[in-house]
Amino acid sequence: MKNVGIIGCGNILETYLRAEKYFNNITYVACADINMDLSLKASEKYNLKALTVDEILADNNIDVILNITIPQAHYEVSKKSLEAGKHVYSEKPMSVKYEQAKELLKIAKDKNLYFGNAPDTFLGGGGQLSRKFIDDGKCGQILTGNFIFAFPGVQDFHPKPESWYQEGGGPVIDMGPYFFTTLVNLLGPAKNVRGRGSKFVDKKEYKVGPNKGKFFDVEIPTSYMLNIEFENKSIVQGFISFDVQNHMRNHIELYGSHGSIIVPDPNMFGGPVITSQELGSTWDHHSAENKPLGKINIKNHSGRSNEANEQSNYRGVGLSEMIDSLENNREHICNGDLALHVLDIIECSMISSIYKVEVDLRSSCKRPRVFNDNEVKKLLKS
Ligand SMILES: NC(=O)c1ccc[n+]([C@@H]2O[C@H](COP(=O)([O-])OP(=O)(O)OC[C@H]3O[C@@H](n4cnc5c(N)ncnc54)[C@H](O)[C@@H]3O)[C@@H](O)[C@H]2O)c1
Repeated sequence: MKNVGIIGCGNILETYLRAEKYFNNITYVACADINMDLSLKASEKYNLKALTVDEILADNNIDVILNITIPQAHYEVSKKSLEAGKHVYSEKPMSVKYEQAKELLKIAKDKNLYFGNAPDTFLGGGGQLSRKFIDDGKCGQILTGNFIFAFPGVQDFHPKPESWYQEGGGPVIDMGPYFFTTLVNLLGPAKNVRGRGSKFVDKKEYKVGPNKGKFFDVEIPTSYMLNIEFENKSIVQGFISFDVQNHMRNHIELYGSHGSIIVPDPNMFGGPVITSQELGSTWDHHSAENKPLGKINIKNHSGRSNEANEQSNYRGVGLSEMIDSLENNREHICNGDLALHVLDIIECSMISSIYKVEVDLRSSCKRPRVFNDNEVKKLLKS
């Protein structure tokens, strides 16, 4: 059991607080935000101690900082936390710059501190069942594939969408982590990337909130087409966009020498996983409901294309597994090397699209180990 202090009291806070109810080794003790009003509100609502960022970092009772600030603040907050001697678990991405993330990992390693990073969705029932089918050779060797995340952008539901359209934002930084981490889990590390990015409009319209009907600036590309080659020689094509009204494609499809697999939504934890063996054969649906992190536990459809009405969301399992690892002196699964490699894929996608060339990745990482059901059950509250 470790005491966790939270920095960042925004939208995702409630989801993380639910993790304390699911997992038996997370104890949240305090919260902080650059905006003290938000930490005071969270403290009242959830019975946490409200502190300033400096106070939370100086609190000797806190072992781990959960960094759920905005992506542009991840580096600064994680760095301060590590320098204060705290283990860190950060939301994605690790930072908005590869070199900054590399520095964070070095500080953590030099100080013998754990650095964990979201997403942890690939530890879910759907991600692990997909992994089992691929490892068992159900589809043979995975050769090719494609993935998609596409919607009109957060301005449809978020009153302050600007940061998604400015430096440090954009669709690859925002949604890429889910897809790239899932692909690295299934295929191993990537080798190089080719990208093409486009900014179609200079302004988008606020659809909700006090500015509804007014327009804000679009400063960066909002649609990317990517081509990633993995070290195992698979090549996968991806499309990530804030410029699509609606679509009907599967999140991730992988094509192997002896069959095909449809991997469920990498933003969530559930199934089903769908497989087919050969041309003309049926598509078999494999439920993840009987896996401990595959059971449906929320109903909240965001309105996005191809999103299920009922979902499995166990965000925080990566934090729980990191705490268990640090207590048992082993490497955690959602570790900094994995997150740094994913950020490398993100940044190289953007570099490739600016210079119109294939870009070799600077990093590699170990393929994450399998997270088996017995390990999950040990972390779950009974
Ligand atoms: N909202 C979601 O559905 C969702 C889902 C998955 C992951 N995430 C990730 O979680 C993180 C937070 O997302 P969110 O939607 O909660 O954002 P948010 O904007 O609602 O909340 C972020 C909070 O961080 C605070 N903050 C910003 N800079 C800070 C600093 N330097 N020091 C202390 N506090 C600071 C802000 O005041 C704000 O309250 C992001 O990395 C995002 O990518 C969000």
